[in-house]
This record gives sequence, structure tokens and C-alpha cells, in this order.
Amino acid sequence: MHRDWYKDAVFYEVFVRAFADGDGDGIGDLIGLTARLDYLQDLGVTAVWLLPIMPSPLRDDGYDVSDYFGVHPDYGTLDDFRTLVAEAHHRGLRVVAELIPNHTSDQHPWFQASRDPTHPQHDKYRDWYIWSDTDARYADARIIFLDYEPSNWTHDPVRGAYYWHRFFHHQPDLNYDNPEVQQAMLRVVQFWIDQGVDGVRVDATPYLYEREGTNCENLPETHAYFKRLRASVDAYAPGTMLLSEANQWPEDVLPYFGDGDEFHMNFHFPLMPRIYMALAKGNRAPIEGVLARTPDLPAGCQWGTFLRNHDELTLEMVTSEERQFMWECYAPEPRMRLNLGIRRRLAPLLDNDLRRIQVANSILLTLIGSPFLYYGDEIGMGDNIHLEDRDGVRTPMQWDDGPNAGFSSAPAEALYEPVIDDPVYGYRRVNVQAQRTGPGSLLNWTRQVLRLRRRHPAFGRGDLHLLSPDNRAVLAYLRRHPRETLLVINNLSSEAQEIDLDLQAYGPGRMRDLFSDEILTGEPSTTHHFEVAGYAYRWFELLQSDLLKR
Ligand code: NOJ
Repeated sequence: MHRDWYKDAVFYEVFVRAFADGDGDGIGDLIGLTARLDYLQDLGVTAVWLLPIMPSPLRDDGYDVSDYFGVHPDYGTLDDFRTLVAEAHHRGLRVVAELIPNHTSDQHPWFQASRDPTHPQHDKYRDWYIWSDTDARYADARIIFLDYEPSNWTHDPVRGAYYWHRFFHHQPDLNYDNPEVQQAMLRVVQFWIDQGVDGVRVDATPYLYEREGTNCENLPETHAYFKRLRASVDAYAPGTMLLSEANQWPEDVLPYFGDGDEFHMNFHFPLMPRIYMALAKGNRAPIEGVLARTPDLPAGCQWGTFLRNHDELTLEMVTSEERQFMWECYAPEPRMRLNLGIRRRLAPLLDNDLRRIQVANSILLTLIGSPFLYYGDEIGMGDNIHLEDRDGVRTPMQWDDGPNAGFSSAPAEALYEPVIDDPVYGYRRVNVQAQRTGPGSLLNWTRQVLRLRRRHPAFGRGDLHLLSPDNRAVLAYLRRHPRETLLVINNLSSEAQEIDLDLQAYGPGRMRDLFSDEILTGEPSTTHHFEVAGYAYRWFELLQSDLLKR
């Protein structure tokens, strides 16, 4: 197996709570997920990323960890987790777990000991968190959960001091100036590697350290620590992939790859909203703009791309005009907005228009990096904006049109959250079972495109070469790899478009349509003319592309 398996991967993000309930208590769990691995294998994804499963009071769906070395009883046991990993590996699926190094829950024993001077272990844990007599320090750090938190400091009456938190007030930040904290988190990673994981998604990477007079993001000390983490993982279990969640501009994300000695992967946050912007404008300029700002990566590194995930569609990496545009287009109702983003799923964002969903996925699967799909988006699940916080995009997976959408055998009122049951997106209409048999379904289309992607290494590993047809409603590019050159054409507008592409420099002019296998024969001396229906996409392999190797 290649050490850089993540370059060919298609990741599938699972909220275990939402996916499948194996023990009938109304909450998804590891046994339920294990029983659905055949579905994921058949879908054609190659890696599964699990949202947090560790013990937690679940005030931030597990991003508030109270024990780094266990499994939340709602989800099962460590044995269940190891079984899941073994069954996934048996099917050729990799498993990526979460590491949440920046903060713990305020219920974590470390924090309980740190805050309480009478606690028997107070002396040991006193400096594991960031305490202050004043809430005036680090004033240049922004507040991330703007809709919920007025400050990054909260006063603790037990310790009689303020503690620092970049997220919810019940998630105190750990103090990385303390060598014991640094060491403890290295041990946590080793523990999860021991359980068999192939990779780790590292939460909230920019915020580990704080320094006065800075915005407390992306500090050199933070990078130094992650380089140490990488060296430790490389020594302990070479080939374990580290993926960073740094919601930053591309030039600020680049250092998270280091010289190939920090993270293997980083999400490309700024690209994501620009795919939606380009579709709303019917113009490729937003995507071209962000790609022009996207640096080449060191060897062994890869972008992670996505259209949606478990959080709000974040609009932090856009200008305020762009954010206003996105809100007006995609979140016309106030309940659709959250913090600096939009709490909606892919299908409702794109008006449930199959053509738009497909062209957005065509870009996701072919432009750069390795794509991440969010559970349920492969069947066009809807959201419930009336639920709190981000819960509306975390509703139960819709398996069939039976009770509780086939998610759980518990009484409906026992479900951790109600299933979507509206006339358009409700489980009676939108479910896996119905889409399995429908040849034109989004599910079957996704299976088909994932299979095509898997056959062509250029999608994960090739260089990107943007083409510049005069017609700006079309986004066209080549992906070039020693084994093949692929051409992708995406129509970003609802109207049919025509383009002429001069591809003479790239081969003798013959190309194969990857969907139909049809061979197009061009006139070597002329340009190729393409007509592309509204929101259509075309994927080709340029034949005899070996002429290109220069
Ligand atoms: C980013 C995670 O994606 C989000 O769900 C969580 O609330 C914050 N980090 C805090 O851990």
C-alpha cells in the first residue's frame, strides 16, 4: 500500500450519532456504522472520517472531550471501535479519527483539578489551562462563535480567575506553554493509532498558542508543536495521515504543510464558498481568483476539498461583500445564518436542482486535492433550520421510507433528533433504498462518478492547468499526470454554453468521453468546439497524451 494513500482517497464524513443505530436506543453508534460499511464500500468512497466519539458531555457534539482515551457509552466501547476498524480495513476502507488538541470540556478531570485549589491534584494540573486575573489579555483575538460567546475569557468562581477559550465557554483551551500538555497530546495520538486508525483529523489547528499583540492564530510556536507531533507520529506509525483544520487563507495554510514535515493534508476552506459563488454568478472568476492565490504544495502533501460538512458553511475566508452576496443568494431567511456562515445542506443550498448538485460535485471531484463527501449529501438530504446551532445539518441518515427512516428501531420520540419529514426532503421521498433502484438517482450518479474518479490517478495526483476559454460561464481545465491527461469542462450557468478550446499543444486531438466512452476526433489544425448544456459537465481523457511529456 502506498504511504500517500490519501492522494487517491475519497473521504466520507460520518457523524456516528446520526448514521445508524445498532442497539435501538435512538442514537447512532459504532455497531450501527459497522453494519453499514458495505453501503460505503458500494458507494465507492475509500476512507471514513468519524466525528468525535470520545466521552463528552456533548455540548459541542463531542468536540468537548472529557476523556481522550475512551469511547462515549452512547456510541459503544473501544472493542466496538476496533471491530469497526478491522471491518473497514477488510473492505479496503481507511479510518480517520478526530484529535481535538486545542481544548477540552470543562468537565474533563484535568480542568476540574486545574480550577479547584482544594482538588488533590491541583498542583499537577494548575497550569494546564490558560488562567488570568483579567479578561483584557489577547484582545486582538477574534471571537469565533459570535452568535453564542461575548468574549474569549470566562470567569470561573471556583478558581477566582478568568480562563481562555476560543470556542464555547465550556471548552477551556489547554496551555501549550506547559510541556506536560504537549506530551499528553502526543500520547493521545499514539493511543488512537494503537486502536488502528489510518489518519487523524486535527481540530482547530491555528489556535494552540497565544501571544500578546498578535491575533493568536498561526503562531510560530503552534507550527513548531505540530512539527513535533508529525515527527512523533512518523516515528511511531509511519504512513499515518495527519489532516489539519485551519480555516485560513491559502497563504496562511501553506505553513501547516511545513516543508512536507507538518501536516499531510489541509482543508482548502477558501475554495469552498467560491464554488457556490461561481454557480450563483454563472461565472468562473471566483474560482480562478482563489486558485491564483493557491500555492503549490511540498511533496507528499494534498489539499482536502469539500462542499459541505458538519458545521455551518463558513464564510470567514471571503470579503464582507462576498459574504453579503452569499447570504443573500443562499441564506435568505435569518434562521439559515449562523455565526459567519450558513447552516444548510448541499441539496437545499442548490434548490434541489440535480444538475447544479452534479456540476458542483464534478468540480469537487476533479479540480484539486482529495474530496470529502458529507454523509447524506449523496442522496440529497435536506436540513432542519429550526433546530439549534448546527444540529439541523446533523439529522438521522435516511435509509428507507420505514419508521425513523430506517435509522433506528426506537420509538420516534427517543431519537437524538427528529428525522427530516417534509414533503420535499423527507425520508419518505429521499432515502437510500429508493435511490438504489432509480437509475437517474443522485446516489447512483455518485457511485458512477466515484468509480470513474478511482480509475484515473490524474484526479488525485495530476497537475492542474486552467484553460481560458472566452466564455467565462465555463470552467475548464486539464489534470496532467505522467500516465494520462484529463480534460474537464463544467458549465456554471443554467443556459447552454459553447466554447472553443485549442488543445493542439496537448496531443493529436483525439479524446475519449469518460462517461460514454465515445471517441471524439478533432482536427489537429483547429480548435475543438464544445456545446455544453446548462450546468452540464464533461470529463475526457486526451488520447496519446505521451506527446506531451516534455
Ligand atoms: C471545529 C469543528 O469542526 C466544530 O464542529 C467545533 O465546534 C469546533 N472546531 C470546536 O472544536
